[in-house]
Amino acid sequence: MAKDGNLDVLVICGSLRKGSYNAALARTLPKLAPSALTFRAAPPYDRFPLYNFDIQHSTGFPAEVNTWADAIRSADAIVIVSPEYNWSIPGPLKNAIDWVSRMKDQPFKDKPVAVQSAAGGLLGGSRMQYHLRQSLISLDVLWFGRPEVIVNFAAKKFDEKTLELTDQPTIDMVKAQLAAFETFVRRVML
Ligand SMILES: Cc1cc2nc3c(=O)[nH]c(=O)nc-3n(C[C@H](O)[C@H](O)[C@H](O)COP(=O)(O)O)c2cc1C
Repeated sequence: MAKDGNLDVLVICGSLRKGSYNAALARTLPKLAPSALTFRAAPPYDRFPLYNFDIQHSTGFPAEVNTWADAIRSADAIVIVSPEYNWSIPGPLKNAIDWVSRMKDQPFKDKPVAVQSAAGGLLGGSRMQYHLRQSLISLDVLWFGRPEVIVNFAAKKFDEKTLELTDQPTIDMVKAQLAAFETFVRRVML
């Protein structure tokens, strides 16, 4: 971790499906970001049990939860790219956040976090962004505000076959956010 070197950015995708627009958006980040940002995908969280204190109390945190938490701890910054489910955070992602939130060395504390969303609807996942902000602020993240990345009517913005992001205004929006996020991360890094 160095204020003037490369920044190690962990990318968490809120969709688990193969043909996900959000996963496709996440894949564009390396080519749209300033060169000092390097990206790696977070380990999977789709096998986490549903959070239950009894599991935590009896057998401790599952190994895959520890792996996910370690990946967050070791990153300089986090980008979460997620759809909106019923105007809020997709259940699997919220479950993963709930698991690590109970850790003593809570991994999101003091992490710079930016969010992006792609969704089929008019508001492009913006209600999820607001709910995610509310949850993560409670975990003491350093929340990046603007420029926002909200990809509405997602099916029109990606190539139907290759899932490549083709919409130029969206590409520009992602570039602007990542450039500003780099500045933000360097300013707030401990
Ligand atoms: C359970 C569920 C709830 C959804 N709720 C919303 C919603 O609240 N707003 C919205 O714009 N789209 C909603 N959608 C549609 C998603 O935006 C769309 O399926 C999108 O492609 C999901 O992202 P992904 O392609 O990354 O998987 C919902 C889809 C599912 C499966």
